Amino acid sequence: MRKFSKIASLALAGVMVLSLGACGQKKQTSSTSGDAPDGNSSKKIVVGFSQIGAESEWRTANTKSIKTACENAGIELKFSDAQQKQENQIKAVRSFITSKVDYIALAPVVETGWDTVLKEAADAKIPVILVDRSVKTTDGKEDLWITRVGENFYQEGVDLATWVKSNEEKLGFKDKAEVKVYQLEGTVGSGAAVDRGKAWADTLKDTKFKTVKSQTGDFTRAKGQEVMESWLKSDKGNIDLVYAHNDDMALGAVQAIEAAGLKPGVDIKIVSVDGVKGGFQAMVEGKINCIAECSPLTGPKLVETIQDLAAGKTVDKLTYAKEGVFPQEVAKDVIGQREY
Ligand code: AHR
Repeated sequence: MRKFSKIASLALAGVMVLSLGACGQKKQTSSTSGDAPDGNSSKKIVVGFSQIGAESEWRTANTKSIKTACENAGIELKFSDAQQKQENQIKAVRSFITSKVDYIALAPVVETGWDTVLKEAADAKIPVILVDRSVKTTDGKEDLWITRVGENFYQEGVDLATWVKSNEEKLGFKDKAEVKVYQLEGTVGSGAAVDRGKAWADTLKDTKFKTVKSQTGDFTRAKGQEVMESWLKSDKGNIDLVYAHNDDMALGAVQAIEAAGLKPGVDIKIVSVDGVKGGFQAMVEGKINCIAECSPLTGPKLVETIQDLAAGKTVDKLTYAKEGVFPQEVAKDVIGQREY
């Protein structure tokens, strides 16, 4: 039988209040943690984690970070790979509810369509922690999850676009009246694609950088390559810059550009987001011009958050991983220190 600890009972009482008016609040306690083990309990914490899939090097590193951090902390992790399908994630969350896990960690593939299942988790008093991407509920409230341990996709897009704008000369765009940008978008409707797309458009509005074509490559290397091949068939000679929402799609584009007899990073400039080893290696080889980092190493922060919630402590509603911008010329010096 599960024990109701004092902390958990108090947290539950406090949470009812918080969960009603939590929208916009910075600090959160475990709003639905009636059954979760508290900090003094010897019971093992059980977490159900619905991961998006294994679509990219980034995703594999993220899964590893979360699995390792949970293992090191003695947390039991029930892991489910959704193969990039929302319906699989909804099924996984329902099975976590049925098996009465203490916490649910959800990396949502897209932003919308979660209201019903998140309400089911709230009714079952299981706190939901969003990892990585964001969720948008129909009423715009943020009370169906307790906190998000994620990355700042909008800032990544701004940082990369700002770097491009300030490095026109280095990129060979100084004397061009117009720079033709081809955008490889991430998964349609995902927080990462929405924010990175918007950030780019906002930052380069009213400049000579014009997005000529924009198509999804679903964050995968194969689809990035496929889209790039079709662009090269129709628009070869017209493409100045590829903005890829992740390194895997950029690497797919690199392959397509080489197959078309052109030099990636030289004939067609490429910038992307993530900073995985494959992306850094391509920068060392001169094939990608700049990468804005998106850190997948959020496992330790997720564990800290779970432990804080279990101890009845308050946590921030949103935390972002630390991220930087890496131009090609620094790649060879830092590639050896990259953790993923
Ligand atoms: O949500 C983070 C994004 O998802 C990463 O940029 C990408 O590589 C992954 O698939």
